[in-house]
Amino acid sequence: MANRKNDGYLSARESRRISRENRRITNAYEKQRKRRNVPEAEYTTAMRDPNNAVEFDNLHTYFFTDAGTVKAVDGVSFDVPIGKTVGVVGESGCGKSVTSLSLMQLLQRPQGQVVDGAIRLNLGDKAYDVTKTPNEILQHLRGNTISMIFQEPMTALNPVFRIGEQINEVIALHDGEGKSEDEIRKRSIELLEMVGIANSEGVYMMYPHELSGGMRQRVVIAMALACNPRVIIADEPTTALDVTIQAQILDLLRQLKDRINSSIMFITHDLGVIAEMADYVVVMYAGRVVEKGTAEDIFYHPAHPYTIGLMASKPVVGKKIDKLYSIPGKVPNPINMPNYCYFKDRCEMQVAPCAGEYPCEIRLSDTHTVSCYRYYEGKDGEGNG
Ligand SMILES: Nc1ncnc2c1ncn2[C@@H]1O[C@H](COP(=O)(O)OP(=O)(O)OP(=O)(O)O)[C@@H](O)[C@H]1O
Ligand SMILES: [Mg+2]
Repeated sequence: MANRKNDGYLSARESRRISRENRRITNAYEKQRKRRNVPEAEYTTAMRDPNNAVEFDNLHTYFFTDAGTVKAVDGVSFDVPIGKTVGVVGESGCGKSVTSLSLMQLLQRPQGQVVDGAIRLNLGDKAYDVTKTPNEILQHLRGNTISMIFQEPMTALNPVFRIGEQINEVIALHDGEGKSEDEIRKRSIELLEMVGIANSEGVYMMYPHELSGGMRQRVVIAMALACNPRVIIADEPTTALDVTIQAQILDLLRQLKDRINSSIMFITHDLGVIAEMADYVVVMYAGRVVEKGTAEDIFYHPAHPYTIGLMASKPVVGKKIDKLYSIPGKVPNPINMPNYCYFKDRCEMQVAPCAGEYPCEIRLSDTHTVSCYRYYEGKDGEGNG
């Protein structure tokens, strides 16, 4: 373990040692990744449940930085069933985007690496573990099977190309076989209309800076949906928008989902949006899942003190209170996580065993699980009652 002073200061020598060590670790991962002609059997796997589109199984994604190892995602497991929306909530920095980037395999490499666990992607007749799938295969899956609506539309669009050219490129790359240029153009304009852009032929000729934020977000959505993906990852797709546009975009996503029966992994810290969109909810805290269940479980019977705090900190129409609740304290440093429950230092509902090791997952019902010592009573070591 690094010899670190309390203020987080690292000596030049220590920092050099860490970066040497990091290079050694990441080189080994990169070497494994860059092999050619990897046999399909190596990354073919079986879904635990064929009704799931994606299964995250004990995913660990770390960033090997010069300041130390950031355990951005540290043992995350949850399922995304076919045709359902799974909402992922948690405060800033808890690992929501890193979880979705791990699924897309778009982590900032070489420092970002999946070091353990699996992500199983259902392809109908077979399933792949994307953490082991070579890049040339992933390139076909991205866009066709899984696609992502990125957090910031301005960085997802290229400022020097017209909107039309950018959508055409997506279609040509993933779905363009046998299509003429004119057919691709028609499909692009159709997509712009589908996401509710009125002047679609005009917008087709415009540059990203000529559009409003809401229009840009719609363009990004149109690009993500160009090839009817089975799994759509929406990373805060509406955070930068005003509420009326937000409602329209949510409607649009819901309609599209129903039309092509795809699954949505919906990332946000807006609980109102989750209540409206999600069938299932996963609550993350500091790189771990602390609670998961159906939307009803989480909204009506929140169990983890963090979820209870989240629910208490949202305003409710018609309920008069002086001051909204806010959870005290802050998230632990991701480089130096405690070896007990990560939420303990902020928790106002502690019980005696909380100082012990990180609590295991306790099953409260068929759909609802929580990692908290308050629910250990009467459960065995695996959390079953
Ligand atoms: N490229 C990177 N290098 C080093 N650390 C990173 C990198 N990307 C993310 N992290 C770290 O991983 C952790 C999780 O980040 P992530 O982007 O997943 O948060 P998030 O839950 O999406 O937050 P937000 O709600 O603000 O989008 C953070 O502590 C962040 O500092
Ligand atoms: Mg994010």
